[in-house]
Amino acid sequence: MTTTDAAAPSVGPADALLFELLATPEGRADPYPRYAALREQWPVHRLVLDVPGSSVGTWVLSRFDFCQAALRHPRVGKDFASMQRRWGLDESEVAAQQVFSSERPTMLFSDPPDHTRLRGLVSKAFTPRTVEALRPQVVRLTDEVLDSVGTGEVDVMAALAFPLPVSVIGEMLGVPPADRPQFQRLVRASAAALEPYVSPESLDRANQATLEMEDYFRHLVAERRERPCDDLLSQLIAAEDGGDQLSTQELLSTAILLFAAGFETTTNLIGNGLLALLRHPGELDRLRRDPALLGSAVDELLRYDSPVQVNGRVAGNDVEIDGHAFPAGATLLVLQGAANRDPRRFPDPDRLDVGRADGASMSFGTGIHFCLGAALARLEGQVVFGRLLERYSSIELLDDNPRYRDSITLRGLAELPVRLT
Ligand code: HEM
Repeated sequence: MTTTDAAAPSVGPADALLFELLATPEGRADPYPRYAALREQWPVHRLVLDVPGSSVGTWVLSRFDFCQAALRHPRVGKDFASMQRRWGLDESEVAAQQVFSSERPTMLFSDPPDHTRLRGLVSKAFTPRTVEALRPQVVRLTDEVLDSVGTGEVDVMAALAFPLPVSVIGEMLGVPPADRPQFQRLVRASAAALEPYVSPESLDRANQATLEMEDYFRHLVAERRERPCDDLLSQLIAAEDGGDQLSTQELLSTAILLFAAGFETTTNLIGNGLLALLRHPGELDRLRRDPALLGSAVDELLRYDSPVQVNGRVAGNDVEIDGHAFPAGATLLVLQGAANRDPRRFPDPDRLDVGRADGASMSFGTGIHFCLGAALARLEGQVVFGRLLERYSSIELLDDNPRYRDSITLRGLAELPVRLT
């Protein structure tokens, strides 16, 4: 067994690379060459440029098998207080932190048994069968959005990639249409706290945004309590009223999680995925000619440029993964975007192949936190790319190098200007 070196190492090329990747706009914008270097030369790397306050250390994992083993390990979990220490917060700051504090529990940041209970309460709404029944509704919503898009020059991010997923999850949850646009700003602000390096100002904005969303859902819950509807929020309220299954705070945090997780990622599937297709016209034509490939195409687009690039875990005890030992409290940064391009797992990984049948990528995670909304996201992707190709005979990229937003955990474009004909 290799014992991972816990002594203070010196700054080397891997650390310089990781600093670029995780903390600079250039590295975040173009992660793939950096991932390749890490994966081949330093697949399990102890970060030297650790965040102050992380006494135990942070390891960065980039090969598929290793990332998978870490995410599935039963004693590797989501002890978020340790994660917050990784950000350099001391104990009082950890207590004051709002976004992922223990006062705001969500399935995304809890371990069993809380995770099992919180996920169990909503999992029925997201099974592949329940989601497939939503197909006609997703097609209707997509057509409504595309009707308003029309033809000509369009920014896909503003006109389609944001409004569509927000309508889908908004309808499911019961958030009225007029209230939905404000959430783009709020969710983006709160998602900044998911970045491996986050400034105190961003953290403040994230906290503020979380409190605003909580206020919003507190009012909506009060309304639904008086007049229940046929929506997921009313079902969650019934679960809360049904006894000790869900506290009021858990109800609010779950509603926010579902709403936020339900669109920021899918927005980026639409943007990153369309850009990848437009940069590979041969693959786009292949998909146009053979819509039966939509299922594999969406999975391939997710693999090729994943909306979620980085995942995080904390070792609950001293653990050993694939021959490497990690001390209790060690933070593991799982580079999903790097794992998705691992040639050991995906032959010719830098090639986009809409018919690829190499099995699941890492984009939805794996293990007990595997994306609850995976079936819904896949459905939305299949419908939106399918309808785009049916309705437009030509989609022309107007900027060869559109700008990615400056974040690495969630990777997505700021704008995607195209001409639709
Ligand atoms: C392309 C779109 C999406 C991507 C790439 C994505 C990605 C992910 C990933 C990587 C995780 C695992 C996080 C971890 O291991 O800690 C996750 C969890 C989750 N996702 Fe998604 N997601 C997408 C869409 C959605 C949608 C549409 C929903 C709908 C509500 C959703 C809801 C959730 C929830 C609730 C969790 C937490 C599951 C748990 O902790 O057990 N996601 N997602």
